[in-house]
Amino acid sequence: MLMAAMLLTACSKDSEVMAEPVNASATEAGKTLVVYYSYTNNCHEIVTSLTSQIQADVMRIEPADRTQKYEANGYAIGTALLNAIKAAPNDAASYPAIDPVSITDLSQYQNIIIVTPLWWSQMAAIMQTYLFNYGAQMAGKHVALIVSSHSSGISGVVADAQRLVPDAVWMGDALWINNSNHSNRASLIENWLHTLNFAEKQTTMEKMHITIDGVTQSATLVDNAATQALVERLKDGAVTVTLNSSGGFEIWGALGFSLPTSNEQINAQPGDIILYNGSNICMFYGSNSWSYTRLGKIDGLTESELRTFLKAGESNITVTLSLSSGATAINGLTPSLPTSLKLEGSTYTLSGQRLAQAPARGIYIRNGKKVIL
Ligand SMILES: Cc1cc2nc3c(=O)[nH]c(=O)nc-3n(C[C@H](O)[C@H](O)[C@H](O)COP(=O)(O)O)c2cc1C
Repeated sequence: MLMAAMLLTACSKDSEVMAEPVNASATEAGKTLVVYYSYTNNCHEIVTSLTSQIQADVMRIEPADRTQKYEANGYAIGTALLNAIKAAPNDAASYPAIDPVSITDLSQYQNIIIVTPLWWSQMAAIMQTYLFNYGAQMAGKHVALIVSSHSSGISGVVADAQRLVPDAVWMGDALWINNSNHSNRASLIENWLHTLNFAEKQTTMEKMHITIDGVTQSATLVDNAATQALVERLKDGAVTVTLNSSGGFEIWGALGFSLPTSNEQINAQPGDIILYNGSNICMFYGSNSWSYTRLGKIDGLTESELRTFLKAGESNITVTLSLSSGATAINGLTPSLPTSLKLEGSTYTLSGQRLAQAPARGIYIRNGKKVIL
């Protein structure tokens, strides 16, 4: 009976010079990406309704082989794809190929909403491929899930999402839209967005500035009790801490005060800013997995730039944390600055000030490119 109904539904639808140019476009805080897959267009209709209610970029995932009839022979192809993933979920070869995606860098997005069909009580295999490839980029971001099924409950899809995007900050419970309430999707989505406090998520994320040896970089904070308390503390003035390199992957040390923890196993990556044991701040230029509370991420630096900025390997590094920078970080460059920064031969600080004298050691802008001296 269910399969017949599903079939109906299915048929109805330096002194090295860095290679890259200065990134003039500021991180657009609060930006949302809706990423979805849809075989028979129910999820497409859900996304149409969703994006009439929120501002978001939209990306549709497509299988490389669009001739597949997943429902044919009693859904045999869909079943085989899911069984292959289940047998070896950590092997990229288990996942069906998808077309190249139009947005490969998710750093500009703060919020991501995943919309997927349910297949045999699991996440549709095509969406699993996308998340297997790009889920790691969603670490520390607000992520939400909408699942469309004919009638089956969605706990299996939620588990798949948690496996494929382990370091997401989930905005709240997933929204389940099924065959009997699909026509009601507009109001279901409206209520769900309300319960997620989504309007608030679209507001600007707090930026923190980190100054080391006269060089200032911006970082985007995640939204949790620890960062809220940290921001309140920084409103009273900048905080200067002494950090030390450790383990070949981080600089860390005591904050001098405690923040509320929400520790979980986190695979910290280069650029991550982490709270350890409630009162220590860690800034990563490598990676390490431990029980931590996420605070945020340093904006826009490559791993080698992070090593230079954070003084990897050194001890007694003086690091100042503040809410307003004396020098605007590279991601905060105003659109008008890059033109002037392209003046041949001139060297500029990250805040766009032209230097009259030979610069000291640090990160600068020369000929429109970041340079490390
Ligand atoms: C391979 C396959 C397996 C499915 N398995 C289930 C299922 O176990 N339970 C269910 O309620 N719906 C199942 N469905 C139905 C889809 O979840 C449902 O039609 C959904 O709305 C499709 O979204 P789409 O139109 O965006 O592709 C299945 C569909 C396909 C193609």
